[in-house]
Amino acid sequence: MAKVKTTFFCQNCGTQYAKWQGQCNACKEWNTIAEEVLQKPEKSDWKTAASTTKRVSKPLQIKDIDVSEEARLDTLDNEFNRVLGGGIVPGSLTLLGGEPGIGKSTLLLQIALKLPYKTLYVSGEESQKQIKMRAERINPENNNCYILTETKTQNIFKQIAALEPDIVIVDSIQTLHSDYIESSSGSISQIKECTTELIKFAKETATPVVLIGHITKDGNIAGPKILEHMVDTVLQFEGDRNHVFRILRAHKNRFGSTNELGIYEMQGSGLREVSNPSEILISKKDEELSGNAIAATLEGMRPLMIEVQALVSTAVYGTPQRSATGFNAKRLNMLLAVLEKRAGFRLGAKDVFLNITGGITVDDPAIDLAVVAAILSSNEDEALQNDFCFAAEVGLSGEIRPVQRVEQRITEAEKLGFSTIFVSKYNKISLKNTAIKIQLISKIEDVVDYIV
Ligand code: TYD
Ligand code: MG
Repeated sequence: MAKVKTTFFCQNCGTQYAKWQGQCNACKEWNTIAEEVLQKPEKSDWKTAASTTKRVSKPLQIKDIDVSEEARLDTLDNEFNRVLGGGIVPGSLTLLGGEPGIGKSTLLLQIALKLPYKTLYVSGEESQKQIKMRAERINPENNNCYILTETKTQNIFKQIAALEPDIVIVDSIQTLHSDYIESSSGSISQIKECTTELIKFAKETATPVVLIGHITKDGNIAGPKILEHMVDTVLQFEGDRNHVFRILRAHKNRFGSTNELGIYEMQGSGLREVSNPSEILISKKDEELSGNAIAATLEGMRPLMIEVQALVSTAVYGTPQRSATGFNAKRLNMLLAVLEKRAGFRLGAKDVFLNITGGITVDDPAIDLAVVAAILSSNEDEALQNDFCFAAEVGLSGEIRPVQRVEQRITEAEKLGFSTIFVSKYNKISLKNTAIKIQLISKIEDVVDYIV
């Protein structure tokens, strides 16, 4: 009998070793190297199970390559299309990652049910009945969508050969296994092999494949990092499970920009596209409350008005608490230090809590000024005018720094009926005759004058 071939893989980064060792040389993680059984009786090939090659590629001069053939598949989901850069590219592999329960299966099933193409939805996680129940909540009528519960790639390819779908969705890559590899589903070598087989299938038949991928505790897609290199597009579905908003972003996109962002709202009947996020993310209150400020941020190419709430109170215990939800805590400490040093506010003995409403996380530096304004407003217990908004970065010396694409932010604020927007004096603005007042400021002290 042939000897069982084994090899060692780092479960964190996918580096291969001939023998076990305690620390991975590549990613420096400890105790991540595990033994996996390898066996390849013959070269794996999706065509051994299926033999439908719709397209055979041959070398072409760049001028002869027909781009019109690469027309994208419209998913009829505006947010999804936008994040992908205008639809699914034929023959592409897309990986959708996200925390458990965030709605990955719901999103892809919903898209599958809407697609006007013949779609095969392969699930290794749920039974056909479970999927049907979910589908009934979303959109029960669709004759183009086929559901298959199967985890062996060779069987999947057999079904694909019989059905010839226009698009294949796999939920999830971690549940698949190939006969050519002995180790268990979800192991590095299985994930690599199954992805390779799917890539071959996708490229040879020009059928797009969308994969769902689990993520690890630290938010990376489970499996080797190389998985992300292998696929064409990596999407991340994120949000706070206790809130209704979900954000779809592209981390990698070979066919478009990674700046775009899709916003959904989780409802009882599936995910609803949110086309006017600003109006939803800010609560238009009649009463003016202290500690609230609105930031004109930019997520990708889309302007987004976001409400920042701060609570400043005298510390009860010796060490004051600082906590931030949806905002970088280190950045909050920095802004507090700037306020203390440059504007003379004694915040050292105060608890400061900061919250970005809607359960979203913002890393646009233009939110700084709104954070400062919210903190000052809560500290003085004076409400800001609720038609003020802010878009500027705050520097270490208390200077108000310009932000990118300020005109787009101003236009959005104007559209939503804000009366005044505070921006840096150093921004170049060529907008004329705006209904909104553009307040130019250069130092943090100036803000203080307007607010308190
Ligand atoms: P799911 O798509 O199963 O998450 P994932 O595949 O990322 O693990 O989403 C599950 C959650 O979404 C579940 O907690 C219930 C909720 N949900 C709704 O609120 N409305 C719906 O219409 C559906 C189908 C699910
Ligand atoms: Mg799922």
